[in-house]
Amino acid sequence: MTNGQEQSAHYDVHWQEEEYYYPPPQFIGQANCSDTSIFDRFSLDNFPECFKEFADLLDWDQYWHTTLDTSDAPCWKWFVGGKLNASYNCVDRHLEKYKNKTAIHFVPELEEEPVVHMTFQELYRRVNETAAVLRDFCGLKAGDRVTLYLPMTPELPITMLACARLGVIHCQVFAGFSGKACGDRVWDSESEVLITMDAYYRSGKLLDHKANSDQAVEAAEKAGQKVNKVLVWRRYPGKYSSPTDMVDGRDYFLDDLIKEKRSQIVEPVSMPAEDILFLMYTSGSTGRPKGCQHSIGGYLSYVTWMSKYVQDIHPEDVYWCMADIGWITGHSFIVYGPLALAASTVIYEGVPTYPDPGRCWRIAEELDVNIFHTSPTAIRALRKVGGDEPAKYNYRFKHMTTVGEPIEPEVWRWYYNVVGKGKAVVVDTWWQTETGGFLCSTLPAVSAMKPGSAGPGLPGIHPVILDDEGHEIQPGEGKAGNLCIRNPWPGAFQTIWKDKERYINSYYGKYSKDRNSKDWRDWIYMAGDAAVMSKDGYVRILGRIDDVINVSGHRLGTKEIESAALTTEEVAEAAVVAMPDEIKGSVPELYVSLKPGYEPSDELAKKVSDNVADVLGKIAKPSNVYIVPDMPKTRSGKIMRRVLLSISSGKDVGDVSTLANPQIVEEIRKQVQS
Ligand code: PRX
Repeated sequence: MTNGQEQSAHYDVHWQEEEYYYPPPQFIGQANCSDTSIFDRFSLDNFPECFKEFADLLDWDQYWHTTLDTSDAPCWKWFVGGKLNASYNCVDRHLEKYKNKTAIHFVPELEEEPVVHMTFQELYRRVNETAAVLRDFCGLKAGDRVTLYLPMTPELPITMLACARLGVIHCQVFAGFSGKACGDRVWDSESEVLITMDAYYRSGKLLDHKANSDQAVEAAEKAGQKVNKVLVWRRYPGKYSSPTDMVDGRDYFLDDLIKEKRSQIVEPVSMPAEDILFLMYTSGSTGRPKGCQHSIGGYLSYVTWMSKYVQDIHPEDVYWCMADIGWITGHSFIVYGPLALAASTVIYEGVPTYPDPGRCWRIAEELDVNIFHTSPTAIRALRKVGGDEPAKYNYRFKHMTTVGEPIEPEVWRWYYNVVGKGKAVVVDTWWQTETGGFLCSTLPAVSAMKPGSAGPGLPGIHPVILDDEGHEIQPGEGKAGNLCIRNPWPGAFQTIWKDKERYINSYYGKYSKDRNSKDWRDWIYMAGDAAVMSKDGYVRILGRIDDVINVSGHRLGTKEIESAALTTEEVAEAAVVAMPDEIKGSVPELYVSLKPGYEPSDELAKKVSDNVADVLGKIAKPSNVYIVPDMPKTRSGKIMRRVLLSISSGKDVGDVSTLANPQIVEEIRKQVQS
């Protein structure tokens, strides 16, 4: 972890090249794409018209006239003139052929509770009834924002699709985030309605989620955003499972309200392609989370194409992506992509290893899952707690995905050999909240796999590695640099909600030479990752170059964590470093100094740690909190996180003589390493 001044992606890499693995012939035989000439169709010469193929996977109410409008570059507009509805594309259009087919398999965490198999017909009915409530009871209309704070149950995609049906912009916040973090997002998105659930299961415990939701409302109101209505789904319809009171005139049970809308049909609103489908918040290098704004036509066509050709989804497949819908992976690859293709998508409520390490594989066996999608963190954890478990279960995957962080080649091989039983292709998909869908990955039936490397740019995506001066680092040079994309693509976010300046500066600022240019060639997208490209064009990710810590594949801003630590009365200064972790990839470790008059103690360290978890959610809880006499600082007063990181990792701190307080370094080192 570095601070702003120190960031650089430029260093030499000494990795050895890994050997290729080839897709099994059986997989190739059934794949949606095995055409090796596909990359020619998507060459830069054919840009942007090649993306017509993406849009043609959808049903349009009105066809578009302009594939890419660059008049407000770099805020791209795709498929301009086109009109469509996302809910129609994910539900209604499948009814004729598939109404009796399962759309959603819902697996409750408690094994004694039966799995729910919801057909497309039932999904259609419930989406319509919910949309009727949002429209008639809440008065919501196209363009309004609504914050969803829902756990992993079918009510989450139902609510998302109900919003999409009306053209209402949904902003789903991960249920594991604290109420305060949710409240910030309610405020930023100016939502007047919050949709939540009373309770849900996690590690065998029924959590009181309504209490968090109340905190969210309170935090939003403190910040200046009034929430008029809180709609509460009940985990068990008709039975309230939370000890927290409902607030009269503000809180309503959604499962009661929909009863009045029984079998009501809400016509899908025909929306301009470039209108907003949802906001998804993610961490950046300053404190405030960024609301990534995703479009209807561009985003939906992009995730549908990626689901069809990279995930290789056919309607008869049972597809399980283990992410949470509160993250972009869940939006794109549990809800929108799979449902647009009429796949059966699995939603699992709980923890992958509950009640024992065999749970995942039992679910896979029981539902006959054949496409499996998860993160290196989950793979490492499953390997650690039950490396021999997969062999005990009789499931068969044809395809597996890893996403969210770099995967170590050793872990990749366990995934391939033990989870995939040597019979499934693996795609390592590199992308981001901002990018809507995959950017770099192998095409499963076309390219060979290479453990630890995401793969080349997907069709239509043209990655390049640039050094800090903007020179191209050639494939195979063995040097890392900034991973960039030369061209826009339909899934790319349109801007940061209400902050175009920040959007341009963060993603295009570094390499743009002419801020007034309307030519897409002048706007190279900088992802914020350091990477190396080998001779064959495969990209291997090293990690973030900005102030972002990737914990279990989830992005946390250093400033967010430090600000949370500073909510502790006694704390004067805080600095966080990212420590490598066997399971989670990295974890935050926190250094704090105290205001005068306070004494360090274990209780105080715990209080700081608990406060961070309260403000941001458990995911941000530091592994250690060190209370130090002072922070190592430059003469200009900047905290040297790099020095703290060296101390945490037991490495040489290097030359610190130019610091304002070099003697403190040794003091901290003794304290931490003793
Ligand atoms: O650093 C990269 C890492 O996760 C970041 C994006 O995080 P987020 O927006 O939360 O989206 C996660 C799911 C797409 C990237 O900047 N990352 C993502 N996928 C990979 C990855 N690092 C290595 N390999 C990947 N396959």
